[in-house]
Amino acid sequence: MLREYTLEDFAAVHSFASDPEIAEYVDWGPNTEDDTRSFLEACVISQEAVPRTDFTLTITPTDEAPVGSVGLTVDEHHHGHLGYVVGTRYWGKGYATEAAASLLSYGQEVLKLPRIEATCRPTNLASARVLEKIGMTLEGLRPHDRLIRGTWEDSLVFATVSQ
Ligand SMILES: CC(C)(COP(=O)(O)OP(=O)(O)OC[C@H]1O[C@@H](n2cnc3c(N)ncnc32)[C@H](O)[C@@H]1OP(=O)(O)O)[C@@H](O)C(=O)NCCC(=O)NCCS
Repeated sequence: MLREYTLEDFAAVHSFASDPEIAEYVDWGPNTEDDTRSFLEACVISQEAVPRTDFTLTITPTDEAPVGSVGLTVDEHHHGHLGYVVGTRYWGKGYATEAAASLLSYGQEVLKLPRIEATCRPTNLASARVLEKIGMTLEGLRPHDRLIRGTWEDSLVFATVSQ
């Protein structure tokens, strides 16, 4: 299930977002409590924006607390940017793939975005595999794309384009 975040999701989100293991390949985290609070507040505010440009949703196995996040943001060129994180205890169960595929089709079919992009570090094999499984095309390598804890890291660039 994908649903909107609420401020009540703090404990579940903080339990995965404060884990150093999930922060290895991303330019945020591990979260402090203030980071998690700010993240949830930004999610709730973005839900009311018109037009809405940030669709960050929580991944919840039915009737259970959040196990991860998936997000699609829309930039000024009407291009979408897809990202996701899943708590380490839940890796390898297909959650990121199913969540990313759903939001990708929402971006294509409902928002009609001409281009949706996702990047991952070349050593983040699990993330690259997710993007491959949801049918995105590997376009190439963008050198020194992300500053991650003081080091400029390269990104693999995946995308889907619609006519
Ligand atoms: C990347 C991430 C979201 C994947 O979540 P997940 O729910 O475990 O993903 P899925 O189960 O849907 O799919 C993972 C795929 O990667 C594969 N995989 C995992 N580790 C791998 C590795 N070291 N080498 C190759 N493939 C690997 C899995 O086998 C699976 O592929 P398969 O279905 O063909 O077997 C999760 O590892 C994560 O949150 N990492 C930290 C945050 C992050 O890196 N986010 C992405 C930033 S670009």
